[in-house]
Amino acid sequence: MRILFIGDIVGKVGRQTLETYLPKLKQHYRPTITIVNAENAAHGKGLTEKIYKQMLRQGVDFMTMGNHTYGQREIYDFIDDASRLVRPANFPSEAPGVGMRVININDKKLAVINLQGRSFMPMSDDPFKTADQLITQAKKETDFIFVDFHAETTSEKYAMGWYLDGRVSAVVGTHTHIQTSDERVLTHETAYITDVGMTGYYDGILGINKDEVIKRFITSLPQRHVVPDEGRGILSGVIIDLKSDGTAKSISRILINDDHPFS
Ligand SMILES: [Fe+2]
Ligand SMILES: [Fe+2]
Repeated sequence: MRILFIGDIVGKVGRQTLETYLPKLKQHYRPTITIVNAENAAHGKGLTEKIYKQMLRQGVDFMTMGNHTYGQREIYDFIDDASRLVRPANFPSEAPGVGMRVININDKKLAVINLQGRSFMPMSDDPFKTADQLITQAKKETDFIFVDFHAETTSEKYAMGWYLDGRVSAVVGTHTHIQTSDERVLTHETAYITDVGMTGYYDGILGINKDEVIKRFITSLPQRHVVPDEGRGILSGVIIDLKSDGTAKSISRILINDDHPFS
């Protein structure tokens, strides 16, 4: 099984960059499944039903979320019916949506789990204990388990990687929007990367217009975040190859922008 995972799609530039490169990436890598993190897809915060459906039409098979899951109010109306979407599983149980889904791909099943970190992040339940519970549940159906760990700190993400090593196929980090170059297969054959990076506006700061962010750092005054509708894009992702027993064979990074063109 080959998984193409693309990091946080941010706003219109992110969606357009995905639209431009997804067909080429699929043709080149021939993934069995394409998963994207969609927590910033609508104007940088959250996801609308229109964009959810649009990305599925464009060839995305499945979506994960993060701290911006409920950034667009309309998600309350469709998240429970969105069969191709998970939000962090360690959100309080009252939160709409689910944190794990098992999907059929050809003759195999893949469990997709979304978790959120607790260091410098909004409050949530323990992602490590939640992972234990979900893995026990998933293992009844499949050995192919993919985890998107949406977290801020490198240490918490690496801790999750090692904690789940040998129990899941892959642990990929999202949320910091900058790709790390530490992709590896851990000793018990779990693919790992601290952060996949984002897909969006390249000439800003984490997909956001740079001027307001710089001003906030200089003045300490609140600023409105602006997610540009046009400009140069970057796409960040990984390709993960799994063996027939669900363990990882390899993980490699994908980074496309004007400085790293897709060839
Ligand atoms: Fe994000
Ligand atoms: Fe996030």
